[in-house]
Amino acid sequence: MSNQTTTAPEEVTTDLTAIPAERKAGLLSGQNFWETEPIPELGIPAIVLADGTYGLRHQSGSHDHLAMYDSDPATCFPPGAAIGSSWDPEVAARLGSALGREARAQGVDIVLGPGINIKRSPLCGRNFEYYSEDPHLTGILGSAFTRALQAEGPGVSVKHFAANNQETNRQSISSDVDERTLREIYLPAFERVITEAQPATVMASYNRINGVFASENRWLLTDLLRGEWGYKGAVVSDWNAVTNRVASLRAGLDLEMPGGNASHDADLRAALASGDIDEADLDASLARVAALADYLPTASVAVDYDAHHALARDLAADCAVLLRNEHQVLPLEGDLSLAVIGEFAESLRYQGGGSAHVNATRTDQPLESIRSLAEEREVPVAYARGFAINGEDNALLLQEALTTAAQSDVAIIFAGLDERAESEGFDRQNIDLPVNQVELIRAVAAVAPRTVVVLSNGGVVSLEGWHDDVDAILEGFLLGQGGGSAIADLLFGRANPSGRLAEGIPLRLQDHPSSLNFPGERGHVRYGEGIMVGYRYFTTFETPVRYPFGHGLSYTTFTSSTPAVHVNAEGDTAVTVDVTNTGQRAGKHVVQAYVATDAGPVRRPLRELRGFDKVHLEPGETKRVIINVPRRSFAYWDVQYGQWVVAPGDYSIQICADANTVLTETRFSLDGDIVSSELTLETPLGEWIDHPIVGERVLNDLGFASAEISPEHLAMIRSMTMQQFVHISGLPIPEEVLTGLMTASKSD
Ligand code: BGC
Repeated sequence: MSNQTTTAPEEVTTDLTAIPAERKAGLLSGQNFWETEPIPELGIPAIVLADGTYGLRHQSGSHDHLAMYDSDPATCFPPGAAIGSSWDPEVAARLGSALGREARAQGVDIVLGPGINIKRSPLCGRNFEYYSEDPHLTGILGSAFTRALQAEGPGVSVKHFAANNQETNRQSISSDVDERTLREIYLPAFERVITEAQPATVMASYNRINGVFASENRWLLTDLLRGEWGYKGAVVSDWNAVTNRVASLRAGLDLEMPGGNASHDADLRAALASGDIDEADLDASLARVAALADYLPTASVAVDYDAHHALARDLAADCAVLLRNEHQVLPLEGDLSLAVIGEFAESLRYQGGGSAHVNATRTDQPLESIRSLAEEREVPVAYARGFAINGEDNALLLQEALTTAAQSDVAIIFAGLDERAESEGFDRQNIDLPVNQVELIRAVAAVAPRTVVVLSNGGVVSLEGWHDDVDAILEGFLLGQGGGSAIADLLFGRANPSGRLAEGIPLRLQDHPSSLNFPGERGHVRYGEGIMVGYRYFTTFETPVRYPFGHGLSYTTFTSSTPAVHVNAEGDTAVTVDVTNTGQRAGKHVVQAYVATDAGPVRRPLRELRGFDKVHLEPGETKRVIINVPRRSFAYWDVQYGQWVVAPGDYSIQICADANTVLTETRFSLDGDIVSSELTLETPLGEWIDHPIVGERVLNDLGFASAEISPEHLAMIRSMTMQQFVHISGLPIPEEVLTGLMTASKSD
C-alpha cells in the first residue's frame, strides 16, 4: 500500500498569457482516466482524481469507472445509506477526515464524493451511496464530510449535480421537474455544501434536466451555481458525460473527464477559430482548473490503517437502525444459547457496486465477532448457512437451520440483498427480499423461542410477510468493513443503537409517491409528486408506512421538553429543548425538529425536517439542545416571484420521534414577507381580493361592500378574471377605478 505523496511545485503562477489559445482548449480535459493535463507554463503538475464517497478507489494500475479493475487497498467506511442513518454530522466529518488522509497518502488530490442526490425512489440502484430522501439531512451531512475532508488538504467533487435520482438510462434520461421542486428538494443539499463548505469541484451529472443535459445547462452551472450561490471552484463532468463540448463550455463546465476525447478538444479549437467562443471563455475555465493546484500536497502523510479500521467499526455502530425490539430481546444478555443463521453472517454484504466500490484493507465478519463476544460471556453459538445467497431453494439448508434454531434460545438471522441485486448502473425492480430468505425467516421464527433479523441492504427492503413473526430487526444497511464487529457490539449491548431511518420503509412499493413516475418512459421521467417526496407525501396524505423516516429505537429511553422558540428580528429562530435519558443505559438521541405550516398560497407538506441534533446522554442525564432554524427554513419557493417567500401566518416547531410522531410542539406566528404581483385585467378576482397591497379596497372600490356578497357568490366569482367579471356582472365599474387599483398594486 502506497504512502507516497508528491509535493506541490515551488512556484505556481496563474498568468495564462504565456499559453497559446489553441493549447488552452486541450488543457480543459484530462490527460487520461484519472488525471488532468499538467500545465508546465504555470508550474502545475497533473492533478490526480479518484472516487471516494465512503472509501478511496484509487487505481494506480488499470483504469475504469465501474470498478471492474481492482483499486489500491483503502478503508471501506460505512456507505452513504449508513452515514445518512447516523443523523450525525460528526460521523460524516470523521469519515471525511480519514478519507482525506488516505487520499493524501495515496497521492490523490481530488476525491470524487460526497454523493448527495436525494433518494427519490427506493429503487434507485445507487441509494446505498446517497444519504437520504430529505434535503436538510443530506445537506448537513454532505457539508460536514466536505469541510472535514478538505481540511486534510485534498479537494472534493460534490456529485451528481443535479436531479440524478435513478440509474435507468442515467446517461440520457430527462428529469422533468418543476422549479419549486428543484429549489426545495433537489438543490438545497448542493446549495448548502457549496455555500458552507466551498468544495473544490462540482460534478455535473449525466442526465438532462427538463430536456437540457446537466453538463450543458447554463442555468444550472452558471446562473444558479456561480451567479446565485457564488461558487468559485471548477465544474467537472461526470465520466464521459459530455456530448457537446462547446455547449458544455458555454454552459460553464470547466473540465471534461476523463481525457482522451480528441474530437472534443478539436471542437473547442474549431469554435475558437470560428468565433463561436473566444479566448476569454477558455481562460475563465482554465483559471478554475489551474486553481485546483491549491489542493496539491505540501507535505507527505502516513496513514494508520489499523486505526482507520477501528474508526470504520466505531462509525458503523452509530449508523445501524434498531427497527423493532419486542420483549427486549436485544441486547443479548444472561444465560443464552444462540443460533446464528444466514451466509451473510460469514460474508457480510458491507458495501455497494460500481464506481464507489472500495478494495477494503480487511473485513470483520459478524459470525466471528459474535463468537468472540459470546465466548467472553460463555454463551454457546451454533451456526447454519440457512439459505443460498443466489436465491435458489435449498431444503437441506433450511432444515439444518430449523434444527439449529429449535435448539437455541435466540436465533439471529442475517438476511439482505446481495451485490447482484443493487448497484450503480441499474435500478431495482422491487423492494422485496428474496423469497427463499422470507421463507427461512418465517420458518425459523416459528420454531425459535426468540428471533432477531439483521439486515444488510443498500436500498430499503420490504419487511412485509414476516415482520410480525420476529422479535427484533436491526437494519444495518451497508456498514463498511467494520460492520461485522459493529453488529456484534450492538447485539450484545456493547454499543447502543442510535441510527434513525433517513428514508421511510413503505408497506408496499406502490404506496411510494415516486411509483407513478419511475423510472419514466420515452426518455423522460416526470417528477410528478413534486415536493411530496418520501415522508412529505406519506405524512401529508396519511399513507401508512411500515416505519417512517426518522424512526429508530434505543436500549434506553429519552424524553424531550416542549421547545422554547425564540425568533429574532431577522426571523431566524432558536429552538431550545431539554433532553433526558430516562433509562438505564448510556445512549445517543436524535432531536428532530420539523416545521409545520399551511401558510401561503402554495401546498405545504404536513411537516418538514428543518433541524436536528444528536446528543450522547448518560442514564439520568439531561442536556439542553439548541437548534437554529434560519428564516429560510420557513420559506417556500415562489415560482411567480422567483424567490424564497416566508408567508405571513401560523407556524409550529414540532419535536418528533419520527416524521409521523409529534412528541411536543410550540406554535407561533410570523409576519413573513409582503410580496405582491402587479394586477392585470387577466388576473383572477380572487387574487385581486387577496392582494397584499390593494386587496382590502378591492370590493369597496368596485362598488359594493363584502357584506353584500354571500360567501357562495364570492366563491363562484373568485376564479373569474377581472375582465370576465366586469363583463358578466354588468356592473358599471369605472375604468379609472380599475386602472387606479392596478397602478397601486405595482408598488411594493
Ligand atoms: C460515476 C461517478 C464517478 C465516475 C468516475 C461515473 O460513472 O457516476 O460517480 O465518480 O464514474 O468513476
